[in-house]
Amino acid sequence: MILVTGGAGYIGSHAAVELLENGYEIVILDSLANSSYESILRIKELTGRNFEFYEVDLLETEKVENLFRMHNIKAVMHFAGLKSVGESVSFPLDYYGNNIAGTLNLCKIMSRFNVRELVFSSSATVYRTIGNQALEESSSLGANNPYGRTKLVIEEMLHDLYRSDPFWKIVILRYFNPIGAHESGKIGEDPAGIPNNLMPYITQVAIGRRPVLQVFGEDYDTPDGTCIRDYIHISDLVKGHLKALEYLTGPPGIETFNLGTGKGYSVLDLVKEFSRASGIEIPYQVTDRREGDVPICYASAEKARNRLLWEAEKDLFEMCQDAWRWQAMNPYGYGVIKT
Ligand code: NAD
Ligand code: UD1
Repeated sequence: MILVTGGAGYIGSHAAVELLENGYEIVILDSLANSSYESILRIKELTGRNFEFYEVDLLETEKVENLFRMHNIKAVMHFAGLKSVGESVSFPLDYYGNNIAGTLNLCKIMSRFNVRELVFSSSATVYRTIGNQALEESSSLGANNPYGRTKLVIEEMLHDLYRSDPFWKIVILRYFNPIGAHESGKIGEDPAGIPNNLMPYITQVAIGRRPVLQVFGEDYDTPDGTCIRDYIHISDLVKGHLKALEYLTGPPGIETFNLGTGKGYSVLDLVKEFSRASGIEIPYQVTDRREGDVPICYASAEKARNRLLWEAEKDLFEMCQDAWRWQAMNPYGYGVIKT
């Protein structure tokens, strides 16, 4: 039995489907702080499989312990966390409390129940990005906002945990920019309020919920002047998680892997590709740079290819097609009308 924390969220829901479709038994824990119960229903509908769902916060120790008592958990895929950079600057204590204390609590409970297999969602935001080089797992680290710092602290905490008890098996996955949706169009990304990230903003412009996309700066030292990122299809990303689970069947240890494609695309590349995939022109206006954005960020995908035997397969066109299918089939996401 695999425990999926944050399984009602964007990445967790796709991972849940992938796990169920590959024959795993799962249980999902999610506080629904940033997601909706509808996504749980969709996972069940899509896979035709049943599983237990607990609307529980990781900080509710007794309830989490109860879950471990009721189910024979072998490994945990830990997605639960708050993820908005801007919000983390305004409410740092919420981020430290939720992300760090939540993970700390989870690890303590896992230890208590002798569950020592963990896949953790980290982020490319932990890299100190300088210049135009593919980021390797050994590249220098340094976050510049509270959200990123919670990821760095958790990574270090997991290393300390392994040093103290070498029976742990831990995989840290550093995601680059996951976009797109399940090819069925039944589950996808459903941000609350105004999207912070590029792809959900584009799809909301395309569906008519927002008038125009703001492109944050076109004076970067890149071929078209807009920032370059490593966009990765959510389906490829969650396949990487199944490879990580398989990796955990090996000897104890702690290992970190990038999950990216190794290719960088600019903001305008993504806008153009989205228009090609959807047939819809995206009106945009160039505005000032967004504080904290780095010009270029893309992964070296070598380590995951060599050690996890995983590599991303879907291209930018498929990412755009699937993101658009989800938005077109679900103009208001999981149904709650948000502005
Ligand atoms: P999401 O907000 O859609 O999903 C996270 C889920 O965790 C939500 O359903 C939320 O309700 C739940 N949650 C939050 N705090 C909780 C708590 N204390 N107890 C129980 N549930 C809680 O976000 P996502 O995009 O699916 O991200 C999943 C993980 O991947 C996060 O840890 C995020 O930081 C990380 N990550 C995401 C991205 C990205 O681009 N989406 C990139 C890098 C890393
Ligand atoms: C953001 C987070 C990062 C997180 C990642 C994945 C910030 C500063 N960084 O990264 O911590 O790990 O998401 O969730 O928020 N853009 C626009 N207009 C928009 C939105 C974005 O031009 O309306 C541009 C940005 O300037 C950037 C690119 O599009 O160049 C991608 O932005 P976004 O999707 O927010 O991802 P990141 O900034 O890479």
